[in-house]
Amino acid sequence: METGLAKKTVVVTGGGSNIGRAISLAFAGEGANVVITDLDEAQGKKVADQANALGKGGVSKVVKLDVTKITEVESVFKKIAEESGGIHVLVNVVGGDVLTMFKDTTPEIWDKLILLNYRTFLNSVKSVLPYMISQKGGSIVSIASDAGRVGEAKEAVYSGTKGAVIAASKSIAKEVGRYGIRLNMVCPGMTIPKSDEVGEGSAWKGQEGLFSPEVLESIKKLYPLRRIGTGDDTAKAVVFLASDAADFITGQTLSVSGGFTMV
Ligand SMILES: NC(=O)c1ccc[n+]([C@@H]2O[C@H](COP(=O)([O-])OP(=O)(O)OC[C@H]3O[C@@H](n4cnc5c(N)ncnc54)[C@H](O)[C@@H]3O)[C@@H](O)[C@H]2O)c1
Repeated sequence: METGLAKKTVVVTGGGSNIGRAISLAFAGEGANVVITDLDEAQGKKVADQANALGKGGVSKVVKLDVTKITEVESVFKKIAEESGGIHVLVNVVGGDVLTMFKDTTPEIWDKLILLNYRTFLNSVKSVLPYMISQKGGSIVSIASDAGRVGEAKEAVYSGTKGAVIAASKSIAKEVGRYGIRLNMVCPGMTIPKSDEVGEGSAWKGQEGLFSPEVLESIKKLYPLRRIGTGDDTAKAVVFLASDAADFITGQTLSVSGGFTMV
């Protein structure tokens, strides 16, 4: 598959841990210049070093960034675009959940999840579009969730925010397709990282052993393909959607979940 990603500038928000880490490494594997933007600079640096050690010709680096703050996002993206001659790919990874029955949620939980999952998406997409419009092309891939498509108990607020990411991406895709800009979404299945794949900012930090081997075996049986997904599974789909191989695909949502959801 010809990806056309070599030497392209790829920004991955939340690129230091778990799914974002796998995505950063996958783009580096294609020879892209990867900018890992993460609150957790130390973890991002670890991943940038691993990406550069692949020796595929790109240069990866970390930039500390809180994507909940639009002024920070604007100034960091401006600097990246000026230094790199544009931003070709944006991958929105930052997000998280609070598992609670909706009747037990609070407005504080609503605000937290809207900020983390939807506002971060708005901040990043709004900030990258001027560069992609002026260079007449670009690809934005956002990590959503099937909870946003089919619903999930204890995830009502999260589901709403991920549904918002999907719906807004489709609307924006209709507005900016004329500039050669594509927006697509990937919905991963449950993705449990290894302990060395996460930093302090990850929701999975310190959660080793959360699931007993017996529970993990029963979770596998929920998936037609009989295994639990990895960050690499999601990363392969993200690279494809960002690449030239998908240059006539926009506004689409792809589940990478071993068939758990078939939408
Ligand atoms: N892990 C799963 O099972 C799963 C399943 C479906 C969807 N998703 C989605 O995939 C995405 C990644 O999930 P994950 O499990 O890899 O996450 P994670 O919690 O392991 O990692 C999140 C990363 O984002 C960084 N981060 C957090 N807040 C930030 C901020 N404000 N600014 C910049 N960086 C910030 C953290 O430091 C960390 O490196 C999320 O959007 C999540 O909703 C995850």
